Amino acid sequence: MAASVELRTCETPGCDGKAKLQCPTCIKLGITGSYFCSQECFKGIWGEHKKVHKKANSSEVNGLTQNYNPWPGFRFTGKLRPYPVTPKRRLPDTILRPDHADHPEGVPISERQMRGTTSIKVLNDEEIEGMRIACRLGREVLDVAARAIGIGVTTEEIDRQVHEACVDRDCYPSPLNYYQFPKSCCTSVNEVICHGIPDKRPLVDGDIVNVDISVYHKGFHGDLNETFFVGNVDEESKKLVQTTYECLMLAINEVKPGVRYREIGNVIQKHAHANGFSVVRSYCGHGINSLFHTAPSIPHYAKNKAIGIIKPGHTFTIEPMISQGTFRDEIWPDNWTAVTQDGKRSAQFEHTLLVTEEGCDIITKRLEKDGQPHFMDAK
Ligand code: MF3
Ligand code: CO
Repeated sequence: MAASVELRTCETPGCDGKAKLQCPTCIKLGITGSYFCSQECFKGIWGEHKKVHKKANSSEVNGLTQNYNPWPGFRFTGKLRPYPVTPKRRLPDTILRPDHADHPEGVPISERQMRGTTSIKVLNDEEIEGMRIACRLGREVLDVAARAIGIGVTTEEIDRQVHEACVDRDCYPSPLNYYQFPKSCCTSVNEVICHGIPDKRPLVDGDIVNVDISVYHKGFHGDLNETFFVGNVDEESKKLVQTTYECLMLAINEVKPGVRYREIGNVIQKHAHANGFSVVRSYCGHGINSLFHTAPSIPHYAKNKAIGIIKPGHTFTIEPMISQGTFRDEIWPDNWTAVTQDGKRSAQFEHTLLVTEEGCDIITKRLEKDGQPHFMDAK
């Protein structure tokens, strides 16, 4: 047990007075020590002492994470900071694994063999059934994540529940070890555009958080995501999330045989711009089947040069990322977390679609509440 303040002496060199106070910033950051006898002593050493706050590095005391700064000197674009990431989770040997699961650099060899190909796979009836099942299971896993979200819950805890929900459904969580991604889903908070790594940061009242789920089951991947509200969210964030969902649904409405893949971005950008938001350009929708990411590549912005015409039997995602300020992104030194360059918020929704003769089926659709996303649920 830690000694109480009374038993400490002032940390000002040469003082030795009885400690009467502890630096409030250190308390907030979880830095132990930092005791002083008086406001005078504290003020006197402030210029020197405040460096402790900056310098404080990763360490664990009594199971609590101290101010964690894995990249000293890195300039963050917004307020969000990284927290410790727990070790990679394991799965029972009985669960079928995609090739990237056991590659030392997480390389999906089968995807790489198709790199550069623009031809789009037309799935047969058996493959379509495989996709429907994988996508339904992915939906169930996202619904598990939705129930976990709340103030004070860490994204690590969401990931833990996602991982367990995958195992329970005989699914491999596709992100795990994909190009060495360390977790079983992506959790993207506030200014994170996508590919946020679940960590020990507790969600805070007013956050928005996207949870992106991909599962691999009996040889097929399913992929979907939703953005959620944490507690009470400001009106501009609500508008962002609502508009982003509308962008996805307007795009899905356009999907039918004969339409060019390049048309999808026009609809999305028109709606985003009409609402004063921007469209992220660095990440695209993608073909998905026995491969996690394959042709076609589907930009969400207007006047793009996407190759291909929509045909029955194609399976692909649409997953617009819409931002409050700039569309430009940068990546944290973890090589994954994509954030907005201005630190303003970004939201995303994703579905996997199966093209039919008449249009498309949303095969990751929610089975309850008429398919509405969770953020629309009445509280
Ligand atoms: N699920 C993401 C997508 O929608 C991809 C995540 S890959 C990961 O395409 F490695 F970052 F997990
Ligand atoms: Co996707």
